[in-house]
This record gives sequence, structure tokens and C-alpha cells, in this order.
Amino acid sequence: MNHLKQKAKEILSNNWRNGFTIPTAKLYPFQWNWDSGFVAMGFAQYAVKQAMQELRNLFSGQWQNGMLPHIIFHSETENTYFPNWDFWETSVNAGASQQPKTSGITQPPVHGFVLDFILNLHQDDEEVKAFAKELYPKIINYHRFLYNYRDPKKEGLFFIYHPWESGRDNSPIWDESLNRLVIDEAKLPNYERRDTKVADASERPTKDQYDRYVYLMQLGKRHQYDGEGIAKESPFLIQDCMMNAILIQANKGLVNVAKQVGLDFAEVEAWLQQGAASFQHKFWNEEKQFYLTYDLRGEKQIAHKDIGGYIPLFAGLPNATQANHLTQKLNDIKEKGFYLCPSFDIDSPLFDSKRYWRGPVWPHMNWMLYQGLLQYQQTELAKTVLNDTLALVDQVGFYEYFESQKNKYDQLDHGFGGNHFSWSASTVLNFLEEIVKMSYF
Ligand code: GLC
Repeated sequence: MNHLKQKAKEILSNNWRNGFTIPTAKLYPFQWNWDSGFVAMGFAQYAVKQAMQELRNLFSGQWQNGMLPHIIFHSETENTYFPNWDFWETSVNAGASQQPKTSGITQPPVHGFVLDFILNLHQDDEEVKAFAKELYPKIINYHRFLYNYRDPKKEGLFFIYHPWESGRDNSPIWDESLNRLVIDEAKLPNYERRDTKVADASERPTKDQYDRYVYLMQLGKRHQYDGEGIAKESPFLIQDCMMNAILIQANKGLVNVAKQVGLDFAEVEAWLQQGAASFQHKFWNEEKQFYLTYDLRGEKQIAHKDIGGYIPLFAGLPNATQANHLTQKLNDIKEKGFYLCPSFDIDSPLFDSKRYWRGPVWPHMNWMLYQGLLQYQQTELAKTVLNDTLALVDQVGFYEYFESQKNKYDQLDHGFGGNHFSWSASTVLNFLEEIVKMSYF
């Protein structure tokens, strides 16, 4: 396993750009929000100063209203990415960060549990404790933004209005809501995609999907990327099960941090209470025995099962019966010859084992799933998730995502999307530490 550790550190070091980490060269040349959270946890294992720098730089792009953008464009001259900072034009919002420039939407709010993870590993380090005190109010501000701007009915659950905010950009769970958009090509601004120049087009979203992404960006811009107008107008308005589970787990992380370094957490506790109650009611589907994402505009649950439905395990939300249903499903997937965990329902006609978020395995998702399974004493299944992740990376390399069907994977000598990927490297580092910590071998 030493070679994996070595390689993982080498990747993080090559992707380090003087204070922050890019997800992968060429495809994603800036700092991404939740990627940085996962990367910081990897750094925490052997270079905690870099972990702190990573997060400091990420939050340097936070807006005055608390919003933490999904991309921080630390360079204004790098022009190989679309949509770049000029296309977002965030100056329409008076409180948007202009130095550094950013995008106008957010991503899964992982940083509360990330900070807790880092502090746990370095409990006696005074510099880390001081850092926790510095970052805590910024994360609180971020969460306040989500509750104040993105929760019009005050349910303790927030909405997204762009698939890119979910982190699972191209999942089939967005299809129906995206199809609601009426696209007039003549009214869309001219744009030129860059992703299909550096990655195989068959592994990326289609042109029709991209038009819809651009449409929603324009809609956000028209409303100064603010919540109220967007909530009224956007045909795509979703309460994502995974993101809300992540927010709840991040709030739990914040409570732990506050207790350790002596900060007030009454506001966080109130969020937790309200969020947990609404969560069960809104996302659990008794018929499917699964958590489903909620279409706020269509006022109904989205019928598809995606990997986001397992993430409530990570936040400790399911009761014992619900957890059993989820783990049973995972065992079935395993029995059917898949690596854990495919990003989409393997029994659905929309399952595509190769295309972006429509079937492949993502290492960082497995890290959250692994933690969730441990919480529910599903140690064997958790170990499968860990071993599958390491096996996938070991055989073909540190790709962005991987073929999930074992018999198809065996015929490949590569993974999908970008290679030398940062969160794949940091996840491997954390899994390798788990093997030691839990004495698995
Ligand atoms: C893709 C992923 C998103 C990730 C980004 C950078 O857009 O869908 O989750 O943050 O790449 O890795």
C-alpha cells in the first residue's frame, strides 16, 4: 500500500498551486468548493498547514452575504475553462467577492465536518485550534446564507437552482426538472465548451444539457445570484437530499468544534433540530424504502434512486429500519457484480456505467458512505466500500471516476474523466489511514 500513499501525495503536491489545490490539471484549473474540503482532510494526515491554507484560500472568495462560491478563480488570465469568471459576471451582486473572482453558485457545504475532522486529528495543536476559531464564524455565515436565502418556507432545508450546485452535475435525477426549461437558442449567449476538448465527449454532458446549464446561469445573474427572485422564477428548484444531509452533518461537526474550542453553538443546535425533523418527512419514501430528492417547483419527490439517497447514513439520520433497507440495497448491488457504490440506480434504464454521475463510482462519495456505514455498525460493508475504492485506483490510477460494473471494468486500463485527481488522492490517503486506525489487516 506504500506505493499508493506515495503516489497520492505526489498528485496532491503536483496539483498544489501556491496556497490551494486544483482538482486536476487541464479539466479543472481553479479551486473548487467541496473538492477543497475533501483535499484538506487528506492534507490533514501529513501536512496540516497546507490543509489550513487550502481552506483559508477557499474562504477568501466568500461573499458578504455568506455564500461560498463553487469555483474560486485565483487566476484571471487562465482562459482554458468554460464558464470562466467573466461569463459569471458576479459584479451584479454588490457583495460578491471581486478579489478573487468567483462563480455565482455554491456547492455541497462540507466544511463543518471537514474542520471537525482536522481538529480531531490535531487536538493538541494550538495553531489548529486557533484556525478552528478563525474558520468557525465563516462557516456559520455560510450556513446562515443557506437558511436565509435558500429556504423560503423556513423548513430547515435549503434549495439549489443549478445542477452544478449539487456536485452531481449530470445525474438523471435532474432530467425532468431540466426538461421543464424552455430553451430559445437565439436568446442564449454564445459560448464555447472546453470540457469536451480535454475529456472524452461520451463521458461528459450532452450539448442539450449544457444549454440548460447556461440558461440557469443567466437566470441567476438576472437576479443578482440572490435567493428571492430565483425562488420565484426558476423552473429548476430542488431540495437535494444529499446536500441537506451534508449540511446536517456539517452542523454536527460545528457543534463538536465549538465544544472543543469553547464557542457558542446555540444557533447551530436550532438548525439541527429543525433540519433533522423536516429531513425525514421530506425525503424518505416509504414505498421505495429509500431517500429521494425533492422537486420544490414540481412539489413532489423525484422518483429516481441516486447515490445521494445513501448519504443520510453519514449524517446519522435513518432509524434502524431505514438503515437496514439502505444496507440491503448496497448488498444487492454488490451481489450483482458491481463495485460500491455506483452513482445511480443500477436497475434504472437511465443507468449509464460510463457517463458523468449516471452510474460510475466516485472515491470521495465512498468516503462519506464508508463513514455512514461505520456509524450503523455495518463494518463488513464499510470495508467493502474501502477495499473497492482502493482496488479501483490501484489497478488503473487516480481518476476522477470509475466504471462500476466489474466485468466491464476488467476490460479497461483506465478510469474516466480527469486523471491524477486530487480528491481521489486525498480519499485514498484517508482510507489508508483507516486501515491502520481500525486494524483491518
Ligand atoms: C465536476 C463535479 C463536481 C466537482 C468538479 C471539480 O463538476 O461534478 O462535483 O466539484 O467537477 O472536481
